[in-house]
Amino acid sequence: MKPISLDDQLRKMERDWDKRARENARYYVATGRKDWTDEEFFDSGRRTVAEEILTDMINICQGKDPAQMRVLEIGCGAGRVTHALSEVFGEVHGVDVSSEMVDLARCALKDRPKVHIHKNNGMDLSVLPDLPFDFAFSSIVFQHIPSREIIENYIREVHRLLRPGALFKFQVQGNIALKTSPEDTWLGVPISDQDAVEMALRCGFDPRYRHGAGEQYFWLWYFKKETS
Ligand SMILES: C[S@@+](CC[C@H](N)C(=O)[O-])C[C@H]1O[C@@H](n2cnc3c(N)ncnc32)[C@H](O)[C@@H]1O
Repeated sequence: MKPISLDDQLRKMERDWDKRARENARYYVATGRKDWTDEEFFDSGRRTVAEEILTDMINICQGKDPAQMRVLEIGCGAGRVTHALSEVFGEVHGVDVSSEMVDLARCALKDRPKVHIHKNNGMDLSVLPDLPFDFAFSSIVFQHIPSREIIENYIREVHRLLRPGALFKFQVQGNIALKTSPEDTWLGVPISDQDAVEMALRCGFDPRYRHGAGEQYFWLWYFKKETS
């Protein structure tokens, strides 16, 4: 069988996520429920922020006032976590490959002038302003991306935008026993601990902490090297 090209992979991600968004966006964002109310959906985003961000402010803020920080979320979906991030940080940018998801996030966050939602191409951050970011975050997104090349491109792009020393905290699929396919935009490519270390070093990051290797929720703390 002919291998799928990068362009076709990007087109397929966009098409599949647009379809999921039209079918039941909130369910595909957080599969715990099929019938989220607004309140429950955005509360679940607050829980993500409470668990992954508020417990980790020393690494994330590094002495900065969160209200003065510009942060990035990759794969913002319908704005579930973006909404909660905007309650903590001064300026929040979310990017997503699906214009259907982007429309939902923009609608949910329209009363928050310091939140900016961007539709991107599924692999780079050229849609963002060329400004220094203080923190980048991504949760339950890279676990769906079927290509190491795309994941590594995002890491390189986050490195371009982060200020030296700043943190990119993100989750990948760590279960390397999974059988995945380059055409599958739901079950993404697994990342081993060794992959995680090598990708970080190739892209100018210190992969200082890693938690959950071998599991679905494999969390990585990449600090941009001061001198890279
Ligand atoms: C399961 S949802 C999670 C959304 C959000 N992170 C949250 O926790 O509420 C995954 C999101 O990632 C987006 N996504 C998938 N592949 C992407 C890619 N290559 N680049 C940007 N966004 C992507 C999808 O469109 C979808 O909105």
